[in-house]
Amino acid sequence: MMGTVLHFLLVFFVLIKAQDQSGFISLDCGLPENLNYSSSKTGINYISDAKFIDTGVSKRIARTDKFSLQQLEYVRSFPSGVRNCYNISVTSGTKYFIRTSFLYGNYDNLNKPPQFDLHFGANVWDTVKLSSNASLFTFREIIYTPSLDYIQPCLVNTGKGTPFISAIELRPLNNTAYVTYSAKSVLTNFFRLDVGSITNLEYRYKDDVFDRIWFPYGFIDWARLSTSLNNDDLVQNDYEPPATVMSTAVTPLNASAPLQFEWGTDNVNDQYYTYFHFNEVEKLAENETRAFNLSVNGNHRHGPVIPGYRETYTIFSPTPLTGAKSYQISLTKTENSTLPPILNAFEIYKVKDFSQSETHQDDVDTITNIKNAYGLTRNWEGDPCAPVNYVWEGLNCSIDGNNIPRIISLNLSSSGLTGEISSSISKLTMLQYLDLSNNSLSGPLPDFLMQLRSLKVLNVGKNKLTGLVPSGLLERSKTGSLLLSVDDNPGLCKTESCKKKKKLFVPLIASFSAFIVILLISLGFRMFRRQTVISSSKERGSMKSKHQKFSYTEILNITDNFKTIIGEGGFGKVYFGILQDQTQVAVKMLSPSSMQGYKEFQSEAQLLTIVHHRNLVSLIGYCNEGEIKALIYEYMANGNLQQQLLVENSKILNWNERLNIAVDAAYGLEYLHNGCKPPIMHRDLKPSNILLDDDMHAKISDFGLSRAFGNDVDSHISTRPAGTFGYIDPEFQRTGNTNKKNDIYSFGIILFELITGQKALIKASEKTIHILEWVIPIVEGGDIQNVVDLRLQGEFSINSAWKAVEIAMSCTSPNAIERPDMSQILVDLKECLSLDMVQRNYGSTRAIDDMISLATVSETTLSAR
Ligand SMILES: *[C@@H]1O[C@H](CO)[C@@H](O)[C@H](O)[C@H]1NC(C)=O
Ligand SMILES: *[C@@H]1O[C@H](CO)[C@@H](O)[C@H](O)[C@H]1NC(C)=O
Ligand SMILES: *[C@@H]1O[C@H](CO)[C@@H](O)[C@H](O)[C@H]1NC(C)=O
Ligand SMILES: *[C@@H]1O[C@H](CO)[C@@H](O)[C@H](O)[C@H]1NC(C)=O
Ligand SMILES: *[C@@H]1O[C@H](CO)[C@@H](O)[C@H](O)[C@H]1NC(C)=O
Ligand SMILES: *[C@@H]1O[C@H](CO)[C@@H](O)[C@H](O)[C@H]1NC(C)=O
Ligand SMILES: *[C@@H]1O[C@H](CO)[C@@H](O)[C@H](O)[C@H]1NC(C)=O
Ligand SMILES: *[C@@H]1O[C@H](CO)[C@@H](O)[C@H](O)[C@H]1NC(C)=O
Ligand SMILES: *[C@@H]1O[C@H](CO)[C@@H](O)[C@H](O)[C@H]1NC(C)=O
Ligand SMILES: *[C@@H]1O[C@H](CO)[C@@H](O)[C@H](O)[C@H]1NC(C)=O
Ligand SMILES: *[C@@H]1O[C@H](CO)[C@@H](O)[C@H](O)[C@H]1NC(C)=O
Repeated sequence: MMGTVLHFLLVFFVLIKAQDQSGFISLDCGLPENLNYSSSKTGINYISDAKFIDTGVSKRIARTDKFSLQQLEYVRSFPSGVRNCYNISVTSGTKYFIRTSFLYGNYDNLNKPPQFDLHFGANVWDTVKLSSNASLFTFREIIYTPSLDYIQPCLVNTGKGTPFISAIELRPLNNTAYVTYSAKSVLTNFFRLDVGSITNLEYRYKDDVFDRIWFPYGFIDWARLSTSLNNDDLVQNDYEPPATVMSTAVTPLNASAPLQFEWGTDNVNDQYYTYFHFNEVEKLAENETRAFNLSVNGNHRHGPVIPGYRETYTIFSPTPLTGAKSYQISLTKTENSTLPPILNAFEIYKVKDFSQSETHQDDVDTITNIKNAYGLTRNWEGDPCAPVNYVWEGLNCSIDGNNIPRIISLNLSSSGLTGEISSSISKLTMLQYLDLSNNSLSGPLPDFLMQLRSLKVLNVGKNKLTGLVPSGLLERSKTGSLLLSVDDNPGLCKTESCKKKKKLFVPLIASFSAFIVILLISLGFRMFRRQTVISSSKERGSMKSKHQKFSYTEILNITDNFKTIIGEGGFGKVYFGILQDQTQVAVKMLSPSSMQGYKEFQSEAQLLTIVHHRNLVSLIGYCNEGEIKALIYEYMANGNLQQQLLVENSKILNWNERLNIAVDAAYGLEYLHNGCKPPIMHRDLKPSNILLDDDMHAKISDFGLSRAFGNDVDSHISTRPAGTFGYIDPEFQRTGNTNKKNDIYSFGIILFELITGQKALIKASEKTIHILEWVIPIVEGGDIQNVVDLRLQGEFSINSAWKAVEIAMSCTSPNAIERPDMSQILVDLKECLSLDMVQRNYGSTRAIDDMISLATVSETTLSAR
């Protein structure tokens, strides 16, 4: 019986203690990832720091005796990089007690204790100089209230040895304790002493709920007083000094003399906050009193103080002590007091100026995105703009009206950047200088750069950008407000007319050099320029194939032996794959029958790999080994539009999403038609060829295939119909004439599908009718509500719906000449989208509906309980 009761008590005790650690963050730096343990001394649960930092190496101190503090056994050492930073999630607005610990222990066998700096985000925290006695540990503490939801302690190499760290500990405090006069002041520990200790031990958790470390301290003139005290016996205040610490006190040996101590400083401007903790340890008799005054350097500060029995009383001053070379604290008994003064514990903190603001949060998030998008390493650690000597390489910052640093210059020239220009850049709204020159950036020079209103210099020279320079940028360059440099981008044009010339130029050169080669061969290599011509064209071929041509073995690896089928199209099956660099891809295996003997596969596939646009699914490469022909595309997480529009699909695309998909697809098609020379006609446009990425951005796929695989009408190896039933332009069927207008017709059908949610071929009772046969009579009847997908339940802007129907009607005009060009359609669709936006901003019923349904849901959950 007795045993059981004890057992329960024990469990209860453990539970309470476990709860006490809530909010604690205890990192054992260098501890192998995924390891964790509970300290045998304190019961604190430590975890590895690996998830909080990307840099540094784990080291272990070789020692035969057991560590009294297990968290000091491993260290994380930082042999490379000047500033290495942790990123630790915290609760913003909570006051934390933060401690970093360092035990050198000759972990590197160099017998050279290093010295280095400690930063805290944008501010310099302290210098850490390790003792020449390698087995002594040192620590740095601050009391800090983060304004962001993370903190970044950094270790900074100052040329005096490799920085390292043993442990980082964060403990939430009571916000009402340790209040400073200025919010920018941060307290760093100077002394925290348990005076009168009779054990001579250090106390921390679990004695101290905040895990502060109290060091025992005595003085020759002082006598010790003590009592036995449990936590429950002591009435606490916000500071909660441990009962063990408060159970002992000192008093002057000479009962009529004051209790005194002092400390000195080199800098009279140093500021100190002091906290004196009192608790009457003796049960006083009726005729006894203990009352005393507290003075600093002889000036009365507080009193008379009459400590309460078994009650913590803390004296602190709301403003810091400053202006002196030394500070003498005296506790002097008042005239009527029968007993001398006492003191149980005290803390003295020195103020650190952490007034340097962190860089504006938007800029930090954006530059972090850019860093990740381009895989930049550099010295990009900690705060981007501060401290001032540690601004990230390639950035320049200035201070805004609120003293907050903003990024005004981004220089990523010669940084080996690839891919498109990241749209994140447009979110660096204060940017004045942007230099992206001498990289391998591809894709368009995006419109979004226009959003950078303060931009004065834009250099994108020496890249592989294509398309047109946005007219807005050209205008600003003409008026002199922007210094624009776009040189050395062979595919980039400043005017429509130049685009035509340049695009024609490439095939011309190619055929011209082919011509020369033939000429040279026929001339028996007798011309003196022959070697240069041949070698340069060879080089080109090999460079391309390195990136884009895959072997069958590689295809097997990429698809994990054709493990996962993700689709099946006209040309064959599509498999999921992962490239060596972890890029997810879709591998389209072309069935041999669809293209047997097609000689130009390779050159066409090569051509398509250089067509890049954000609304076209990129062809990453191909495989061409005899019968085996495959195309490797970027992987699109949200499948195709056909799947999204299915009636069975529970997630219904809303009106705005539909319009955005239409605009995206229009961008892609516009590029194929008007941005590529010669123009690329799709010839098989349909919802299953419009793919959606994880953000639901639409991209057109399978473009150019008809040409690559002999689907040309004028080719004699046509193996499948040009187009899919329901989407084929009737005029093409009639005349056999191919032109861009065939694609426009198909695009119109897709638009109608987006608007109505119907398929191109509608099964109505027994017969199948074409969507146009169904929709045109309803449109002509003026009944827009019945045209638009009923599943939207009226959730659309009528004006924008009419506009969309109008566009779809013009695209599907039976007379091809009447159909608009893609560029016009794009303009109209964007207008349609803005009509929808206007409507939404003026209030739709949507939000209210959502609120009602939410309210209903929570009501049911509540009553269910
Ligand atoms: C500690 O490690 C154990 C397994 O070793 C794991 O289940 C647990 O989640 C870890 N705890 C923390 C806080 O990481
Ligand atoms: C730091 O962590 C926060 C929260 O986890 C995150 O939002 C932020 O992007 C991180 N910062 C860096 C520089 O990694
Ligand atoms: C180093 O410090 C430890 C712990 O205080 C002590 O025991 C040892 O004697 C010191 N060693 C030297 C060489 O001073
Ligand atoms: C902070 O201290 C006050 C006063 O002692 C107390 O009422 C409050 O509960 C404490 N808050 C926390 C979070 O401990
Ligand atoms: C005790 O302190 C008082 C007041 O400071 C002083 O006058 C007296 O001489 C001291 N006595 C001794 C024995 O030191
Ligand atoms: C207080 O009273 C006790 C007796 O009750 C006596 O012994 C002691 O001397 C008195 N102390 C003072 C300071 O008067
Ligand atoms: C203690 O402070 C009180 C109140 O300020 C004052 O009246 C008294 O003279 C002081 N006593 C001593 C001994 O300084
Ligand atoms: C000190 O004691 C005297 C006599 O008992 C009393 O008149 C006076 O008010 C007391 N002074 C203080 C500060 O308590
Ligand atoms: C940053 O600004 C300073 C002073 O305006 C200038 O000297 C420096 O070249 C700039 N650095 C970059 C990377 O733009
Ligand atoms: C960017 O840096 C390069 C060298 O690192 C320098 O030549 C160029 O002038 C810088 N661009 C700007 C806009 O400061
Ligand atoms: C361009 O970048 C390459 C490396 O990416 C570098 O070797 C070359 O010097 C840079 N050219 C200029 C003009 O900065």
